[in-house]
Amino acid sequence: MRRKRQFRLLSLFLVFAIAFACAKTNGTAAEAETKKNTVILYFSATGTTKGAAERIKKNTKGQLIEIKAADPYTDEDIDWTDNNSRVTIEHESAASPAKSKVRPEIRNLNAIKKAVKKADVVYIGYPIWWGEAPHILYSLVEKVSLKGKTVVPFCTSSSSGIGSSAKHLKKSAIISGKTKWLKGRNFYGVPSQKTVDKWIKKSVTDQEL
Ligand SMILES: Cc1cc2nc3c(=O)[nH]c(=O)nc-3n(C[C@H](O)[C@H](O)[C@H](O)COP(=O)(O)O)c2cc1C
Repeated sequence: MRRKRQFRLLSLFLVFAIAFACAKTNGTAAEAETKKNTVILYFSATGTTKGAAERIKKNTKGQLIEIKAADPYTDEDIDWTDNNSRVTIEHESAASPAKSKVRPEIRNLNAIKKAVKKADVVYIGYPIWWGEAPHILYSLVEKVSLKGKTVVPFCTSSSSGIGSSAKHLKKSAIISGKTKWLKGRNFYGVPSQKTVDKWIKKSVTDQEL
């Protein structure tokens, strides 16, 4: 009788212990991902993508780094209605940024390389320019190794979606079989913190591109 009681108590203890362990594993999967060493890289000409990047930083507590053009883009430079502006010339240099030879120099490339080397998760943000990532993003992915990293693209635009912009970047990037390149998302303007928080929680299990 006493042995039976002891056995019952032991079984009960085991059931609780297993349930506790399972809850701990499942409940903290997302937390574990966000606790990884995270770097948020962004290029922003007018501040919208910067706004999204800042909210990602707030959520992930990662390191926020602006991708700075050695020759910064002025308001005249980004006037896409001007046939002779810098962005129009870049855009017309080839059928797509991936095929273009235009690769604007990144002033803080070494600092970016150093931070990315130590990171597990790398967010990459950019504005949509003519349906694609700007040429300077190609300067980034062609020079900074993303081997073995989880890459999370994000962008902002006035109306276009993310389209194939992240897919095209991935094609030009230095990656390995261990790189997990998520499909990412577009924010149509600066997102709310709530939108970003919800997305990050979900993006941990997001589909790969
Ligand atoms: C050269 C250029 C091209 C653009 N092309 C598009 C486009 O194809 N589709 C779109 O929805 N918005 C387009 N936009 C608008 C930007 O994507 C949008 O304003 C973006 O949020 C700006 O981000 P930023 O403030 O971080 O630079 C373009 C803007 C510029 C300057």
